[in-house]
Amino acid sequence: MWCLKLLLTLLWNFHDVTCQWNVWLPRDISAMTNSCVVIPCTFMYPSGIKPYRGIHGIWYFGQPYPQLFPPVVFKTRTDVVHESYKKRTKLLGDLHQRNCTLLINKIGTEHSGRYYFRADLGGANMYTYPDFAELKVLDQPSIDVPEEIVSDLNLELTCYAPDNCPDMSPEIQWMYTDYLPDPEFSNDYLEEGNTAVLSSTLTFIPRPIHNGQLLGCRVFYPNTTLVYERLISLDIKYAPRSVWVNLSSEVMEGKSVVLYCEVDSNPQARISWMFGDKELVWDNAANISLQLDDLSAEQEGVYICVGDNGYSMMNTSLYLTVKYPPREPLVNNSMTVLEGTSLDLHCSAQGSPTPTLTWLKDGELVGIISADKLSVLEIKEITPQGDGHYRCLAENQHGRASSSLNITVEYSPILLDGSKCTVVREGVQCVCMAIGNPEPTIEFYLPDQNITINETDRQYSFHTHTDGHTSTGMIKMRENGEQVDKDGPAVNVHCSIYNMYGRESVILELQQEKKYMMAVIVGSIGGVAVIAFIIAAVRYVGHNNKKENGSPRQEEVPEKPALYYSAVKKDKQNLRKKVVRHDGEMNHDNNIVSDEGPLSDGSGVLCADYMRSNFFIL
Ligand SMILES: *[C@@H]1O[C@H](CO)[C@@H](O)[C@H](O)[C@H]1NC(C)=O
Ligand SMILES: *[C@@H]1O[C@H](CO)[C@@H](O)[C@H](O)[C@H]1NC(C)=O
Ligand SMILES: *[C@@H]1O[C@H](CO)[C@@H](O)[C@H](O)[C@H]1NC(C)=O
Ligand SMILES: *[C@@H]1O[C@H](CO)[C@@H](O)[C@H](O)[C@H]1NC(C)=O
Ligand SMILES: *[C@@H]1O[C@H](CO)[C@@H](O)[C@H](O)[C@H]1NC(C)=O
Ligand SMILES: *[C@@H]1O[C@H](CO)[C@@H](O)[C@H](O)[C@H]1NC(C)=O
Ligand SMILES: *[C@@H]1O[C@H](CO)[C@@H](O)[C@H](O)[C@H]1NC(C)=O
Ligand SMILES: *[C@@H]1O[C@H](CO)[C@@H](O)[C@H](O)[C@H]1NC(C)=O
Ligand SMILES: *[C@@H]1O[C@H](CO)[C@@H](O)[C@H](O)[C@H]1NC(C)=O
Repeated sequence: MWCLKLLLTLLWNFHDVTCQWNVWLPRDISAMTNSCVVIPCTFMYPSGIKPYRGIHGIWYFGQPYPQLFPPVVFKTRTDVVHESYKKRTKLLGDLHQRNCTLLINKIGTEHSGRYYFRADLGGANMYTYPDFAELKVLDQPSIDVPEEIVSDLNLELTCYAPDNCPDMSPEIQWMYTDYLPDPEFSNDYLEEGNTAVLSSTLTFIPRPIHNGQLLGCRVFYPNTTLVYERLISLDIKYAPRSVWVNLSSEVMEGKSVVLYCEVDSNPQARISWMFGDKELVWDNAANISLQLDDLSAEQEGVYICVGDNGYSMMNTSLYLTVKYPPREPLVNNSMTVLEGTSLDLHCSAQGSPTPTLTWLKDGELVGIISADKLSVLEIKEITPQGDGHYRCLAENQHGRASSSLNITVEYSPILLDGSKCTVVREGVQCVCMAIGNPEPTIEFYLPDQNITINETDRQYSFHTHTDGHTSTGMIKMRENGEQVDKDGPAVNVHCSIYNMYGRESVILELQQEKKYMMAVIVGSIGGVAVIAFIIAAVRYVGHNNKKENGSPRQEEVPEKPALYYSAVKKDKQNLRKKVVRHDGEMNHDNNIVSDEGPLSDGSGVLCADYMRSNFFIL
């Protein structure tokens, strides 16, 4: 009856139903060292067999075959057992009830292995069942740890304690859980195939900070000294949570620098240093150093350290500044311009920090000091004084550099102070000085004689001299020569100055020291004539003074100077006023007449004649 029931239970459905040799054992069973274990066991034998002199049984360890002499764990016929099982084993089951349940006490790890039951029904009816119970003797509880523990995801850890010893029941405690955030514990009891396991599950959310920390499970049997502990080190995977790099820094050109990057991640990340799109160096490590030697300006920029460990990617950047003294500034080429032209001079210079840019003209500061990359010197309507050497100076704390250009200003001639006729011993000497670029050509014109005196015409001791942009022309007229008329206006000299940009004509005045002149006048003529001469003299002097104060000589040019004026000059009438004023200052000390000393030695007649002619003109 019981045999059939078992058969049905196991759906062992042979049509020819007969009870066979069969055993039911837990396939796996475990126990803690020094505790005990009960291996539950029931068996069957063919119903046809009638046990002879009772039912006996043997438990073997390791091997089912008696021929191989496996260690005997327990034997009902004798108490001869293997040394390691002496006084430890006891058959709890009643073999007549087909109950072969075995107890092993004070179990040790050496007892781990397969246990086979052999039924001995007398005579030849002996049979070792091939099914076995595999016993595991544990000196530590086991903990179920997920293969991969990922930070911030719920984690369950389960600790197991076998409960197969009826004398005592285990308890489980988790250790080192104080630092865990809100740990939860839940116990479970699992019975399966006549074996029992107590488990305790710890639930919490691991954080990167918990990586590497210890956790423990302690199994103990109350009222005994048996305690078992298992420690595990948490291996918590987490994406890079910090990528530490140096602060942005400044380094001198040519020097070396080490950029350090440290990534906190588990597992270690692939760390790389990037500059722009270029990966400069990489490693699978916790840190990486990028060494840059002999830094150049091109190496300035953003350096990014990227950490990637498969869970995620993270990066941090720094800015490396490469300092260097200014490079030679870029400026315009030297140029030649016409006066009145407006121009912008550009200066730009590389340097770190950005250099200040200063424009100097002939060593003097012009314009403003600029802190921009580009400095533009605006020159509006350049005057002849704008001619010169322009230098752009770039400076920062590491050095200075400069570039220069020359500006040549071309302009139509300007008559200089000191252009005049003076009475000298031999007659009258006329000097005409002009400045211009290209240097002006000087001609004299004697309207009374309708004579033009120029370089091809060497009469009147015509002499010209050119010094830079200044031209000087000089003629001398003798008192008794044809040029000094006995009756008419004695000296009437025009000076004409020109270059490719213009022509100008002026009347040269006769100048003489006033005292000397007055003495001559008073000494030679008396009576009513004196008064007429005094009036004339006063008017002359006043007129002369006025002219010395200003310089409106051009205004004296005769009304019809078509021959001497060019269109160019008229177009630039406004400019020229400015030019002349500057010119006066510039040539203040450069008056060739005063350099040569007073040219006042002359005759009163000539003076009187001149005054008379002047008087009449006025
Ligand atoms: C076998 O014997 C053990 C010990 O006496 C007992 O606990 C168990 O219930 C028995 N098994 C069966 C199937 O009767
Ligand atoms: C342990 O022993 C104490 C007293 O000796 C008893 O009260 C308690 O129930 C025992 N605990 C267990 C699990 O046997
Ligand atoms: C970057 O940091 C590392 C480590 O702290 C240091 O050795 C290195 O000199 C630093 N580099 C710079 C440029 O500050
Ligand atoms: C960089 O990592 C290595 C191991 O990968 C370690 O030995 C070294 O100390 C670390 N360097 C620093 C500055 O932390
Ligand atoms: C650095 O990270 C930012 C966002 O966190 C991302 O947009 C950028 O592409 C990353 N740079 C590199 C070089 O990985
Ligand atoms: C100077 O150079 C700049 C840039 O090359 C240009 O824009 C500017 O017109 C130049 N100035 C002159 C006067 O040629
Ligand atoms: C400018 O002129 C001076 C003298 O005339 C000359 O020495 C110098 O080389 C010139 N500079 C440039 C840039 O042309
Ligand atoms: C001056 O002389 C030139 C010839 O040399 C003549 O053509 C011109 O008409 C003369 N002018 C006057 C005002 O006499
Ligand atoms: C000098 O003047 C004469 C007459 O006006 C003229 O023919 C000649 O070309 C002039 N020479 C120069 C060098 O200007």
